[in-house]
Amino acid sequence: MNIILVGFSGAGKTTVGREISKLANMGFIDTDTLIERRSGLIIQDIFKYYGQRYFRYVEKEIINELRFTKNKVISTGGGAFISKNNIENLKATGVVFFLNASMDTILREGTPANRPLLVNEDRIMIEKLYNSRMPFYKKADYELYIDNKTPYTIAKEIINIFC
Ligand code: S3P
Repeated sequence: MNIILVGFSGAGKTTVGREISKLANMGFIDTDTLIERRSGLIIQDIFKYYGQRYFRYVEKEIINELRFTKNKVISTGGGAFISKNNIENLKATGVVFFLNASMDTILREGTPANRPLLVNEDRIMIEKLYNSRMPFYKKADYELYIDNKTPYTIAKEIINIFC
C-alpha cells in the first residue's frame, strides 16, 4: 500500500512526504516531478507554453499509472485530488491523507513564484480557489489539521495511522 498526501499549495505535502519516507523507510514520489520529467519542462513553463489543460492531462495520465506503484509515499499537486477520475484512482492507489492547513498558513508557507495558479493572485482569489477545493479534499480517507505542527510531528501522526 502507498501513502498519498493531498491538499492545497503550501500545506507542506512535499516536505512531510520526504519526512515520512525517511522515517518509514519508504520510497518517495512527487507527482509534479513526474509531470516535469515526462513533459521535459518545469511546471511554470508547462502552464506558460501549453496551458493548464495540458498540465491536467499529463497529471491525470501520471495518476492513472500510479496504480502499479507499491510501498511509496506519494505527494501530489494541489489540483490533483479535484476530479472524480483522479480521486477514484488515488484512493485505489493508497491511503489518502488530506493535510488541512488554514488560509493563513497557506499564505505564509506557499511560495507563489513557482506556482502558476497563485502567482499574481490576491488573497481573495486564492481563498476562493481554496474554498472551492475543500469539498474534494474532504473525500480523503483521513484529514489532519497541520497548523503549527512540524513536518516531523505530522509525519509521525500519518505513520501511526497507516501502520
Ligand atoms: C497546482 C499546484 C502545484 C502544481 C501546479 C498546480 C494547483 O502543486 O501541481 O502548479 O492546481 O494547485 P503544489 O500543491 O505542490 O504547489
